[in-house]
Amino acid sequence: MSARPIPVVLDVDTGVDDALALLLAVRHPALELLAISCAGGNVPLAQVVENTRRVLDLAGAPPVPIAAGMHRPLVETPQDASYVHGVSGLGALELPPSEREVEPVHAVELLRRTLLDAPEPVTVIALAPLTNLAVLLRMHPEVLPRIARIVMMGGAVGAGNATAAAEFNVWHDPEAAEIVLTSGVPVVMYGLEPFYRATVPAERIAELGRSADPVARAAGALLAHLAGVTEDEGRVDGAGAAAIGDAGTVAAVIDPTLLRLRRAPVRVALAEGPTRGCTVVDLRTGLGAGGETTKEAESHVEVVLDLDGARCAELFLAAVDAGAAVPAR
Ligand code: RIB
Ligand code: CA
Repeated sequence: MSARPIPVVLDVDTGVDDALALLLAVRHPALELLAISCAGGNVPLAQVVENTRRVLDLAGAPPVPIAAGMHRPLVETPQDASYVHGVSGLGALELPPSEREVEPVHAVELLRRTLLDAPEPVTVIALAPLTNLAVLLRMHPEVLPRIARIVMMGGAVGAGNATAAAEFNVWHDPEAAEIVLTSGVPVVMYGLEPFYRATVPAERIAELGRSADPVARAAGALLAHLAGVTEDEGRVDGAGAAAIGDAGTVAAVIDPTLLRLRRAPVRVALAEGPTRGCTVVDLRTGLGAGGETTKEAESHVEVVLDLDGARCAELFLAAVDAGAAVPAR
């Protein structure tokens, strides 16, 4: 007897890997996708919304509610990631315009009512800068008990990608990340360590690109774009391979056995300078310099220290490649 689908909402800044994540979230039977909120990030908000609509059409998604949210960070000057995702945000992939409706409310309002109306607490899968979620938590604390947990793609135990110290989603809006990470809501931090572990080799990418199935073919084009960008150089094993990025965060919700987790306090460096946006993950045990004992047990944050990258990639591929095995429920 398969378990009931997990109710989720996705917060996206649909760029290339958010698109891969949307394909997985729509097509995998283990998830019930209740709503999608859009934030500025990889590309400007209007482009994020348009990309999201088009990818949902490609995936054959039901009319899941979509809303536009925060167009810029709380404090930081907006800086996009078009150097990775291209000006359109979908690399070279061209999808037909969508007729899909966009809700006539702000994404924070869509999230509020979705969380309050859901019959059980909802898993929030955060794939963008955390601006929408920070505003939600500050404006509507009544939703906190309606959030099962926030599974966020963001941060890093080690080196960043946007800067030497900071991962892009946190770097784009550090104040928002600090609000979410210290909110008391259970958070799973899926940082750059797992982000780059789930990869698809070059020959499999090429095979997808030759598929007769439009979803598989689009996944191949998106992965081929990621394989080509310099950002992944040195962080992804295998020449011509690509990390599935945000899609791994969705896979982590579908199958938590993929993860090696550690409960640890996480704070965000906010001071101006080279460390701004760095997630400081306190993995110490025992006494600290000031004689304090670490607060591991008190933390609401679990950090993904490692991931079974091969199984994660296969779960993704089984869902997006109709010719592959049927995804297990
Ligand atoms: O650092 C990777 C994250 O930044 C991903 O969510 C990617 O889509 C970009 O938004
Ligand atoms: Ca993203």
